[in-house]
Amino acid sequence: MGFFRFKLYFILISFLIFHRCLSDTSGMRPVVLMHGINGNAGNMKHFQEWIQEDSPDTYVLDVELGNGAFDSIFGDITKWALDFIEIVGTDEVISEFGSFNLICHSQGNMFCLYYIGMHNSSYVKEQLPDYDLDSFPTVYNYMSIAAPAAGFFGDDDSFEMIGLETNDIAKVGGSIIYTPYILQLLVNPSGYWRDPMHLDVYRKLCLFLPILNNEISHPDFALNKQNRMSLNYYKMFGSPNDGVISPYQSTWYGYFKEGTLEEFVTAEETDTWENVGLKDLDEAGKLEFVDSGMCHTDYLYEDTGGKAFFEKEMKDYVIN
Ligand SMILES: *[C@@H]1O[C@H](CO)[C@@H](O)[C@H](O)[C@H]1NC(C)=O
Repeated sequence: MGFFRFKLYFILISFLIFHRCLSDTSGMRPVVLMHGINGNAGNMKHFQEWIQEDSPDTYVLDVELGNGAFDSIFGDITKWALDFIEIVGTDEVISEFGSFNLICHSQGNMFCLYYIGMHNSSYVKEQLPDYDLDSFPTVYNYMSIAAPAAGFFGDDDSFEMIGLETNDIAKVGGSIIYTPYILQLLVNPSGYWRDPMHLDVYRKLCLFLPILNNEISHPDFALNKQNRMSLNYYKMFGSPNDGVISPYQSTWYGYFKEGTLEEFVTAEETDTWENVGLKDLDEAGKLEFVDSGMCHTDYLYEDTGGKAFFEKEMKDYVIN
C-alpha cells in the first residue's frame, strides 16, 4: 500500500513539475538582443516590440552590459564577453528552453560570437568556475547586424565615429594600440582594432579577436570552430553605406588585403573562412550575406526602414 501511495505522490509531483515547465515557457524559442558600442539596451528595444507584436509569447532578453554607453566603449572586452555569457546562461527561461535566437548590433556581435564559440572554452571555465558551461543554452539562429566581424581599422574620423572623443589612439597607430596591455583592458575597440599594415603585431599582441577568429593557434581553437559550426543559421547584414564599420566588408568577414589599404579580400579568401567553420556552414546552406543598403543604425528604427527590413529578413529566423 505504502509503495502505491509513494508512486501516486511521485506521479503527482512529476505532473506539477512538468506542468510548471509548460507554463514557464510558451513553446517559442527565446530571443536575446545585444546592443552595439556607444549604446544601451534601449537601442534594441524596437526589436522586442516588433517580435512581440507578432508573437506576444516569445520571451525576449534585451541585454545591457554594465551601464550601457560608457561601458560599451571603455572596458576590457573579454570581461564584458564573460558578463554576457553569465547573463544569458543564467537566465531561467532561456536555460530551461535550452537554446535561443540571437540578434546583435555592431560591437555587440563580438560578445555574441564569443558566446557562440567560446562559452565553454578552457579560459571561460577558468574564469567562471561556478557554472556548468557545457550545458549552457546554445544559439540556434544568429542575426548579425553590421558587425566588425573581421576587425576594424579606420582613420581618425572613424575612430571618433565609434564614440571616442579623442583620436590619440588612432594617431599612435595600429601597432601601438595593443602595446600597453592596459589599453586593451580599458578600451573595448582595441580588442578588434586590426591594422592591415601591422597584422603580425596584431596577431601577437591583440588579446581578443585573433583568438575569437582562430587567426592564431590557441587551446580552444577546435572547440571554437566546432561550436560555431553548430549554428542552425547565420545571417550577416552589412552595406557599403554602413558609415561606421571600416572597412564595411568586415561585416561579412572581408577585409583589407594584408599590407594594403586599397585592396580587399572576401571572406572566402581569408583563413578565418576555414578556421571558424564558415566554409562548412556555407556548404550546409546555413550561411548568408545580405547587402541591406542601410546605414549603421537604420536597422534599429521604424522610420529608417528597420521594421520593414526586420520583417522581410529576420522575423522568420527569430520567431520559431
Ligand atoms: C561545449 O558546448 C557545446 C554547445 O555549444 C556542446 O555541444 C559541446 O559538447 C560542449 N563541449 C564539451 C566539451 O562539453
